[in-house]
Amino acid sequence: MPFLLPHLTTAHALSHSAILELFHSAEQYYATLRSGAKRSDALQGISVVLAFFENSTRTRMSFEIAAKRCSAEITGFQASASSVNKGETLLDTIRNIEAMHVDILVMRHSSSGAHEFLRRHAQCRIVNAGDGQHEHPTQALLDAFTLTRKFGSVQGMKYCLVGDILHSRVARSNIPIFKALGAEVAVCAPGTLLPKDIEAFGVKTFSNIDDAVAWADALNVLRIQFERQDQGLIPTIREYTEWFGVKQYHLHAKPDIAILHPGPINRGIELEASVADAAQSLILPQVEHGVAIRMAVLAAVAHDIRSQR
Ligand code: NCD
Repeated sequence: MPFLLPHLTTAHALSHSAILELFHSAEQYYATLRSGAKRSDALQGISVVLAFFENSTRTRMSFEIAAKRCSAEITGFQASASSVNKGETLLDTIRNIEAMHVDILVMRHSSSGAHEFLRRHAQCRIVNAGDGQHEHPTQALLDAFTLTRKFGSVQGMKYCLVGDILHSRVARSNIPIFKALGAEVAVCAPGTLLPKDIEAFGVKTFSNIDDAVAWADALNVLRIQFERQDQGLIPTIREYTEWFGVKQYHLHAKPDIAILHPGPINRGIELEASVADAAQSLILPQVEHGVAIRMAVLAAVAHDIRSQR
């Protein structure tokens, strides 16, 4: 019986067993991608629209490649060239897309909650490729999949997200996924870059990188989201790097630590350039695993669509 997923709007909806089902399926896609067999027919006859209302390099390409490798019919939608700029509402835009019999909408949008809203009001299936500073569930899945492949499991792992937690949708999806998988989760950031309700997240907090490195088995290093803030939340970038940047000496002190980063990297700010390229860095494996994870997610949604037909 294949794993069925009606939508993927939030990481909170994924149970421990659902995540493991997706990893199992991603592992098979990963093996076929690696073997050079580039296609599966999991999305044969299923139409997918990729609607990116915000900038993206990795996530957009990764979903497009994943959908193509699953034999979907794909339509790209460029928000900057669409009628969204002529005042059309999001729901009207999506209703028009649906009228063309689209099955799955993969969307990135700057409004937190846009996907949840569409899940309730639209007919097609919704997959969240990032909503504002709210969630990015496939990024969290691929982060956990990367560490699971490296260490066998993340159960009991000490996992720390470092940087701009306040504006990060990656952090808001990572925390529930890693907690569901039994990891111990922490965040390391200046107080001004932590959400006010950080206690509600049930994570440990560190206020400098040295303490976080001493504690952690793996760090997920986040960029400062300058585009989502209009006030100076850190005194200077130089001081931020001093207190929160991951440096080569951390890798010498902790040679077994794993370094993740969702990209885009700002070399020299949240990490030293050499850290991004070090043996401990899993940044490019994350990108490779992202395609397999997105194939698994799209296939699970396609299975659910077929089960309802
Ligand atoms: C992230 C995003 O867009 O949320 N990147 C990504 O999807 N790979 C993180 C970021 O922009 O810093």
